[in-house]
Amino acid sequence: MKPLPPQVTIVEVGPRDGLQNEAAAIDTASKIALIESLAAAGHTRIEAGAFVSPKWVPQMADTEAVFAGLRRKADVRYSALVPNLAGLERATKAGVTDIALFASASETFSQRNINKSIADSLKDYAEVAKTALAANMRVRGYLSTAFGCPFEGDIDPARVVEVTEALFEMGVEEVAVSDTIGMAHPGQVTALLRLLAAAVPLRGIALHFHDTRGTALVNVYAALEEGVVVFDSAAGGLGGCPYAPGAAGNLATEDLLFMLDGLGISTGVDRRQVTAASRALEPQLGHPLPSRLLQAEAAKAR
Ligand code: HMG
Ligand code: MG
Repeated sequence: MKPLPPQVTIVEVGPRDGLQNEAAAIDTASKIALIESLAAAGHTRIEAGAFVSPKWVPQMADTEAVFAGLRRKADVRYSALVPNLAGLERATKAGVTDIALFASASETFSQRNINKSIADSLKDYAEVAKTALAANMRVRGYLSTAFGCPFEGDIDPARVVEVTEALFEMGVEEVAVSDTIGMAHPGQVTALLRLLAAAVPLRGIALHFHDTRGTALVNVYAALEEGVVVFDSAAGGLGGCPYAPGAAGNLATEDLLFMLDGLGISTGVDRRQVTAASRALEPQLGHPLPSRLLQAEAAKAR
């Protein structure tokens, strides 16, 4: 067995990646309550919303109101997606300090998600990153479809490395290499991470898994063996991208914590409090949350 890192950071993306894809309208107060409970559970990084076009993603239209109502904890970084300079302006007015740009390794997905080619998006993002960095914001980059695309199928790993490098060149502090519709398997994770590590600093790589095929946890394990220490997950396993057909929920934070706690890897996040936050939200969703841990606990309680 390879040695695993003693400590990892979880980026909680449920309030953004999770809620952006829910059919039920979740009111602003419930979003704020979810984010505050997740911060109280010990999370230090929470993606709280998206300053994207409300026509494209109506579920995120109240992101200003979410930031305005949120009692922000000093030791928590609350981030938001920003697709362009208009989004950056909204984020700045809302007092946001951490933004995330979202590029793709697949040309078709880039067009469907942001209505731009990869090259055009990188040009626009460079401008957004420059302006944000000059204003002392922290900038994260996502790289969607890094392990496969719902439209194009296999993605050339060389392309993933190339776009990751382009994101770092514009000054992002971290690239979240993302399995948009949960196609990755652990062999692929190991191989891609080794390619990436030869090109960019591995400490700047986060992994963002959706759990469509049930491989998210074993993918995290493979990444831990390669030394990755930042992972995205969503409370209850909420999630999916509205522009990626077949995207199921993100890896559930509770399930990730169950594995990391068991391995003795510290995160600073309390699993029971995350579970309680998910349960508090569940009645508003109109469907059960997919987290295996939540389901196991519900079965035990019956
Ligand atoms: P467009 O239609 O090409 O843009 O959309 P446009 O510049 O022509 O603007 C059209 C209208 O939108 C205009 O309004 C603009 O003012 C407005 P109108 O004149 O028609 O009234 N607009 C905006 N309004 C508010 N905020 C803005 C903004 N920008 C323009 N920032 C655009 C281009 C990029 C805006 C659009 O495609 C968009 O918002 N896309 C976002 C899609 C999205 O949020 N997808 C989900 C997140 S990504 C994801 O989930 C993947 C991830 O989790 C990682 C993974 O798992 O792979 C991150
Ligand atoms: Mg996602």
